[in-house]
Amino acid sequence: MADGIESIRNPIGRGALGAWVGFSAATMVAGVAVGFSENREDSAFRTVGYIAGISAVAGAIIGAATPPPASPSARKNTTKAGNEWTDWRDFVVARKVKESAEITSFYLKPKDGQSIPPFKPGQFLTIRLDIPNQPRPVIRTYSLSDYHNPVEHYRLSIKRELAPKDSDVPPGLASNFIHDHIEEGAVIPAKPPSGKFVLDVAQTRPAVLISNGVGITPMISMAKAVERLNPERHIWFLHGARNSDFHAFQEEMADVAQSFSNLHLYYRYSRPRPEDEGTYHSTGYVDADMLEQMIIPEIKSLHHDSADADYFLCGSPAFMDSLREGLSALGVPESQVFFESFSKPKAAAKTAKAPAEGNGASAEVTFTRSGKTAVWHPEDGTLLEFAEEQGLNPDYSCRQGICLTCACAIAEGEVEYDEDPSGTPDEGSVLICISKPKTPNVILDL
Ligand SMILES: Cc1cc2nc3c(=O)[nH]c(=O)nc-3n(C[C@H](O)[C@H](O)[C@H](O)COP(=O)(O)OP(=O)(O)OC[C@H]3O[C@@H](n4cnc5c(N)ncnc54)[C@H](O)[C@@H]3O)c2cc1C
Ligand code: FES
Repeated sequence: MADGIESIRNPIGRGALGAWVGFSAATMVAGVAVGFSENREDSAFRTVGYIAGISAVAGAIIGAATPPPASPSARKNTTKAGNEWTDWRDFVVARKVKESAEITSFYLKPKDGQSIPPFKPGQFLTIRLDIPNQPRPVIRTYSLSDYHNPVEHYRLSIKRELAPKDSDVPPGLASNFIHDHIEEGAVIPAKPPSGKFVLDVAQTRPAVLISNGVGITPMISMAKAVERLNPERHIWFLHGARNSDFHAFQEEMADVAQSFSNLHLYYRYSRPRPEDEGTYHSTGYVDADMLEQMIIPEIKSLHHDSADADYFLCGSPAFMDSLREGLSALGVPESQVFFESFSKPKAAAKTAKAPAEGNGASAEVTFTRSGKTAVWHPEDGTLLEFAEEQGLNPDYSCRQGICLTCACAIAEGEVEYDEDPSGTPDEGSVLICISKPKTPNVILDL
């Protein structure tokens, strides 16, 4: 009954239902009591009437005072437990701070003023931008570049992607728009923190966080999380930049190192200038040689001659490839190397509509939410391209199997990937931007 009252939004309605419930229950109970008693006088029936009246008034008051159900939007964004925010939620840019020649940070607070859920160090936020002259909202993912507990804001630190020199390639769409047009007070819709490139804070093995360029963003969050939650653990923080103009968060990390004595900072500049003297440790690129010659001996000296450590990599594709190869050559088990790419070289991205591998058979694809079924042929390309051809508008960002934005639950059938995804979707989900049907029937929750 309480559920019934709570489900009525109008307080007068809830009061009326409460009154009716109170009146009926009291009349029934008092009536039965009189029925069993010997007293059949008027006063007994009057008493029944009084009890019923008082109960009706009490029921009305309780009914009206019962809180109404949360509105659908409030329900979606109720975040005390942090687990009901599933879709887009508006955030306000509370601060915009320049961190280096290319990177600017944006501090986001929820527009609804409610709490925001914590996140795992290394996770990212997916944001949506309405960019003029674009046919649809532009979706991008950005790592959370800070760590607080409890969480008061989310910080994204975004590099302006300039057009390469001497080329007719356009500059990065979203990053330039954000730098040029998103100011304090702007509203940006975001999805909840996500991503599997995360550092297990409770682990005791040393961790080596290796980044170049804007790949520093998840590393800051990881280092700060260990500082707060497991400061006994040793962290090596290796970062490569061109010079101090392009080196973001140097002061911030120096502050962290002040209070976190197990944090070892190493900076390498590829093109240092005389004025950078004292801000970096060595010249060149962060690479496997640096690990072998400088870092691994240090780890061994602090850990009874053991080089056992977890390695986290984030940076340019060439940097990641060379370090992954180098770590493997140094005998570091694959299970202890974690990496995230922000992008792949454009040349490595699959060109649209390449013929599928395998037997080239067609497949029937059902998009359940849209109620559409159509036959896919190899020349239709990826499932994302096919869905778009059918008039669907699935979310996507990288179209390269990195960001998980296009992850979609698969109810029946199997898909095959054009290339191994860099991101790992949840169990039962597939990345439609780089996959094609493998079985004659595929049913997607789209
Ligand atoms: C998990 C994850 C976390 C990320 N975290 C961060 C972060 O913390 N900070 C951050 O700055 N970025 C981060 N990124 C990258 C970010 O999501 C965007 O990819 C980045 O901002 C570029 O987007 P854009 O719209 O500016 O560029 P886009 O328009 O997508 O272009 C990307 C690049 O391609 C070039 N380009 C454009 N068109 C062409 C073409 N036709 N041919 C060849 N080249 C072309 C552009 O010049 C640009 O350099 C992350 C990405 C992922 C997947
Ligand atoms: S759009 Fe990024 S993984 Fe598919």
